[in-house]
Amino acid sequence: MSTAVEVESPMRSRVAALARAAAYPRLRYMGSKYKLAPHLGTVFNEIGGTTFLDAFSGSGFVGYLAKALGYAVTTNDYLHFPSVISRASMVNETTLLTDQMIDTICGPAADSRKFIQTTFRDVFFAEDDRVFLDSAWSHIDSMTGFERDIALAALILSAARKQPRGVFTISGDLSHYDDGRRDLSLPLRDHFRERAAEYNAAVFSTGQEGKAVTGDVFNLAKTDYDVVYLDPPYAPPTDDADYTKRYHFLEGLSDYWVGREIMQKTKTKKIPKQASVFANKRTIEDALERTFDKFRDAGAIVMSYSSNALPGDARIKELLGTVKPYVEVRMVDHQYHFGTHSTAARRSVQEYIFIGRD
Ligand SMILES: C[S@@+](CC[C@H](N)C(=O)[O-])C[C@H]1O[C@@H](n2cnc3c(N)ncnc32)[C@H](O)[C@@H]1O
Repeated sequence: MSTAVEVESPMRSRVAALARAAAYPRLRYMGSKYKLAPHLGTVFNEIGGTTFLDAFSGSGFVGYLAKALGYAVTTNDYLHFPSVISRASMVNETTLLTDQMIDTICGPAADSRKFIQTTFRDVFFAEDDRVFLDSAWSHIDSMTGFERDIALAALILSAARKQPRGVFTISGDLSHYDDGRRDLSLPLRDHFRERAAEYNAAVFSTGQEGKAVTGDVFNLAKTDYDVVYLDPPYAPPTDDADYTKRYHFLEGLSDYWVGREIMQKTKTKKIPKQASVFANKRTIEDALERTFDKFRDAGAIVMSYSSNALPGDARIKELLGTVKPYVEVRMVDHQYHFGTHSTAARRSVQEYIFIGRD
């Protein structure tokens, strides 16, 4: 359905763009840049230009912020669900999910499918919630275009908000995580109504053409954007930054696991890990070198990284300097939550923003 949504002129002020971005339907996502919005907004506004690539889009927040700043935005991620979210919230200029569609999705099922109920029994969510997920999908399956994207984005955000800590590495009886938060007790059907309203409210028009791609960053065809923003996984000194392990349920929910292998012997019924050369300290340097080289024709390359990860800032500056002669590094204090609620600790790290220009 097309209705009148707010039309905004290209290149809005930073303040107006930040206000717009603050209302983004927020997904708790490892490495999300929601809190860095004021700093990134300043950097992007200083650089200017009209075309923008968010090459590791995750929750979709940065691409949405860039649209609010007036850019024509392309987002990319090697997982599938980020493209669904970006299409619903950023590429979509005018389409809303009507009350009637929301009622239908929340009403009786259109067929008798039980895949989620049976696959994730005693793994994720209560029976009523799993029944709702199957039932919602029985309607979404026949939807198309942005309406389908909004419905799926709302379903994905509902599942993420209801799952304790927002990650699907923990399963079974999770009652000890219940700290009384409304998100944890709200039935998924009610979540869905609220999350759909949030996505509807996020839709705005700038008249610029956006795009959301699913694929490895090295497979992107176009490279000469005015701004290329890189926010790869932070390669930790030990272990690796595995997004599939944490968000496999959201990934499967984005296409109802069609054609996907499920590792039945795993406790959380994972899908196979999608390895990333950015997630590991042994492969990160080569990966960064190749990425900078790929985007050497961009107007500017902006990259987020953390002092908590490898390689260090001096090495990244050196690597970026091989394709962009002027490299500036800005540092922002950032606090991360670590551990479970019983061992929760706050640790302060520096969040770097590298800016490479000609
Ligand atoms: C730090 S997160 C991005 C967070 C995002 N900027 C936000 O604000 O939500 C890194 C993302 O890179 C994606 N990723 C990892 N390896 C990739 C690759 N080779 N190509 C494209 N995306 C990749 C992950 O799926 C993850 O969503």
